[in-house]
Amino acid sequence: MQNGATNFGHSAFPVFDEKIAAKMPTYRHMTKEDRRHVYLPSDDTFLLLDAIHSDFKYTFTLDIRRIVEVGTGSGVVATSLAILFPDADVTAVDINPFALDFARRTAKENNTTVSVISSDLLANIPGPIDMLVFNPPYVPDPFDLSQELTEDNALDFALVGGPQGRSVIDRFIPEAAQALSEHGTLYLIAIEANGVDELCHMMEGHGFDAVVMVRREFDVETLVIIRAVLKPAE
Ligand SMILES: C[S@@+](CC[C@H](N)C(=O)[O-])C[C@H]1O[C@@H](n2cnc3c(N)ncnc32)[C@H](O)[C@@H]1O
Repeated sequence: MQNGATNFGHSAFPVFDEKIAAKMPTYRHMTKEDRRHVYLPSDDTFLLLDAIHSDFKYTFTLDIRRIVEVGTGSGVVATSLAILFPDADVTAVDINPFALDFARRTAKENNTTVSVISSDLLANIPGPIDMLVFNPPYVPDPFDLSQELTEDNALDFALVGGPQGRSVIDRFIPEAAQALSEHGTLYLIAIEANGVDELCHMMEGHGFDAVVMVRREFDVETLVIIRAVLKPAE
């Protein structure tokens, strides 16, 4: 069986397995050198994983065949999805080649199968996608996002989202709306400074029903997780 986990994804009588739902992939292979170029799993990563895991009682009953994590960084989230959904095809994308290498190693270390692909958002990823996950660069900062990604600025590309932190998110939303399958679900992280109400409103304009499913205050920022599904066509 793929990924070595219990095969309940498409069985006639799926059984919810707490142990699988709670399993956190290892990333202990991350060295100090890796951390110079690859985003270290942090509060936002863990909040996102918790949200996905808390929804799993529902999502594991769905027919989820194709999952894409955009901006995979360490690959921990994509690997966790491959563990949770052993019958699904899980793809991890990033623009950072160091992250792509590391994400491949993370999947391997955890005995999972994840396709790791270099792509600017969903440019190289055809739809339809049943589950889309993105912990984007959301920090407001005037850093020039049009410059080339190098060894030295790879972490800026992981963190910085341009003015209001929305440049990457705003490019992503219309692509996500195009790529998601009819019953697909999007999990997206943002911070209050991104203008969450306005962001949800913009998502509605692209055909989503968007709700803030988690809001958590940390020392430096308030993180939210937005869960969005496409509204049924009228
Ligand atoms: C905040 S980090 C999240 C990493 C990981 N998913 C996590 O939760 O720990 C954002 C990631 O998005 C990637 N990224 C930034 N812009 C991107 C783009 N246009 N297309 C794909 N990935 C992008 C960065 O290289 C970085 O790995």
